[in-house]
Amino acid sequence: MNLQLVVVAIALGLIVLLSLLLRRKDTLVVAERKELDRLKDEFLSTVSHELRTPLTIVKEALDNLRDGIAGNLNEEQKKVVNIGRENVDRLTLLISDLLDLSRLESGKATFNKAAVDLQQLIRSASDNLGPLAERKRLSLITDLPEDLPQVFADADMINQVITNLVSNALRFARSRITIYAGVEDEKLIKISVIDDGKGVSKKQLQMLFDKFVQTSRPQGGAGYQGTGLGLSICKRIVDAHNGQIWVESEEGKGAQFHFTLNTLKSFKSIGASMKKKILVVDDERVLVELLKMRLGEANYEVLIAHDGQEGLETAKREKPDLILLDIMMPKMDGYQVCRLLKFDAAYKQIPIIMLTARGREQDQKAAHEVGADDFIVKPFDPKDLLTKIATFLD
Ligand SMILES: Nc1ncnc2c1ncn2[C@@H]1O[C@H](COP(=O)(O)OP(=O)(O)OP(=O)(O)O)[C@@H](O)[C@H]1O
Ligand SMILES: [Mg+2]
Repeated sequence: MNLQLVVVAIALGLIVLLSLLLRRKDTLVVAERKELDRLKDEFLSTVSHELRTPLTIVKEALDNLRDGIAGNLNEEQKKVVNIGRENVDRLTLLISDLLDLSRLESGKATFNKAAVDLQQLIRSASDNLGPLAERKRLSLITDLPEDLPQVFADADMINQVITNLVSNALRFARSRITIYAGVEDEKLIKISVIDDGKGVSKKQLQMLFDKFVQTSRPQGGAGYQGTGLGLSICKRIVDAHNGQIWVESEEGKGAQFHFTLNTLKSFKSIGASMKKKILVVDDERVLVELLKMRLGEANYEVLIAHDGQEGLETAKREKPDLILLDIMMPKMDGYQVCRLLKFDAAYKQIPIIMLTARGREQDQKAAHEVGADDFIVKPFDPKDLLTKIATFLD
């Protein structure tokens, strides 16, 4: 019997030891991977930064040569310098793409989201690429509804997405590129860049948004400088805006790139549904009405109860984010309500601010004893009340 117990105890001990070791190994693997990711990011951004300075110098030197500052060049020499110069530009683009992507992937990119006039943003992106389209004898058309709603986005980043999609299209289109934007529903806008080029094969459609993916380069396509990072950057940017990006294409029949963005309105309505809920429990009806107005204006949703019993029931039913609780009330006083909530695991995390009568120190002491998080002395300055509320809710 004793031997059996010893065997069982040893077996249990071994299992515990093994699971501890395994867990430690898991933690080590995760920690190692995180460290590797961090080193990769750091390496990428340091190298990219360090490359920029010498690259700027090479560019300047080649420009000096090309412009004859170091003596006149013959045509053959100029050609060679131009090749060098074009490749410096290409390298510069690659480095800034790599930096962008490493920032986006590591979550270090900062997004300055604000209300953006998409109509204006698309027009200016299109204007900037107009001369390139003209040189290539391609027509670049924008087809936008007059009343395109505003979106909530980082304007520069969205500009980068549109610019990359249109630049891609400019490399492949046969005669025209159209930029459409339209309202999908009141929350969503779809932006599309459509060309009449060679399109993308079914096989390639799947992987187009992966890093360094390039399908065949157009033969003799002048100024082809891509690195295959543009679309994966676009995807990261659109993802960070909670939108979607995708491509539709049939080989030989052009490509249609689409992405969606949330309208400012949808963002506001999400904000509205996330309004913090405050329950006001007080039997002084006039005060309650005034508080309701004041809190409503500060963008809180306000629930009301006129006595302790009703307050307790409303708190349990609605689980508000905060409770303003009077002390002297019919049916059940504030202390009792507070105690019942604070000693119940399901509700104790709801902050309670008690509205105590002026100068009654014992009220404040008692409020603490029943677990109230804070108190404010009546009559209070509404600004002080809002500040106190904000410290719990923001
Ligand atoms: N409109 C299009 N029609 C046909 N193929 C396209 C189109 N847009 C993109 N592609 C294909 O997808 C590939 C990836 O595009 P992506 O923008 O990611 O890279 P890139 O344009 O080659 O380089 P960059 O990093 O400078 O943007 C392109 O090289 C091209 O093969
Ligand atoms: Mg591109």
